[in-house]
Amino acid sequence: MDLAVIPVPRAAADVDGSDPATLAAALMQSRQTILPKRLLAPGPDARQLGMILGAAASAPDHGQLLPWRFVLVPQAGRDRLADVFAAALLARDALASPGDVAQSREKAYRAPLLMLAVVDAARGDAQIDLSERTVSAGCAIQNMLLMATALGFGSALTSGKALKSAGLRALFRLTDSEHALCFVSIGTACSRKPARLRPAPQDFVSHLGSGGSATEREPPDFPCSL
Ligand SMILES: Cc1cc2nc3c(=O)[nH]c(=O)nc-3n(C[C@H](O)[C@H](O)[C@H](O)COP(=O)(O)O)c2cc1C
Repeated sequence: MDLAVIPVPRAAADVDGSDPATLAAALMQSRQTILPKRLLAPGPDARQLGMILGAAASAPDHGQLLPWRFVLVPQAGRDRLADVFAAALLARDALASPGDVAQSREKAYRAPLLMLAVVDAARGDAQIDLSERTVSAGCAIQNMLLMATALGFGSALTSGKALKSAGLRALFRLTDSEHALCFVSIGTACSRKPARLRPAPQDFVSHLGSGGSATEREPPDFPCSL
């Protein structure tokens, strides 16, 4: 791949003044998915990695269960992940072409920082169900993506059928109650697409109708733009 490394805009640095809401909006709006194949070295150094991982700790966590964890996949572990991706593909499709198998293996080597997000359905208070735990994990992941963005890195989440494979579960030593949610990739963006059109609050916000019907939708009557 012959792609020039381009600097990633530093959201906060691009905003005049220090109004926290303006900074927060700029940071959130400047995060966009950069596909892992476009995330090159350098990745975060040790200090930056600490900031990114530490950002997860600010996620809301009902009951403080710490129902999620992240498993870093260093370069030394990429061969084993590639084996798992290839085996998962062949388990799904025994007739997969050598090219398809090679492509599935190659995904293990993308992005200088790669980690697996894991949520635990059973740890701690059983009254707190998987959906709440997964929301907490999503908040932790978004915190990390935003910190990576603030540090000038590109990032992506990826899923795929291999997440549920026995080989991946074994490689990451997932317990019976744990689920692999997605991979988190972080690195220097070598290219980026124009920002995608975001939905407006009117597209996803309604008021509970005065009749109390949960299905009644009324357009919001407040200004809705960041
Ligand atoms: C849990 C999760 C898994 C994802 N998995 C993939 C994936 O496997 N491949 C992919 O191209 N994008 C994946 N995405 C990224 C979305 O496609 C992306 O967020 C969406 O295109 C919107 O782009 P944006 O992040 O720039 O707003 C995933 C997103 C989430 C939240």
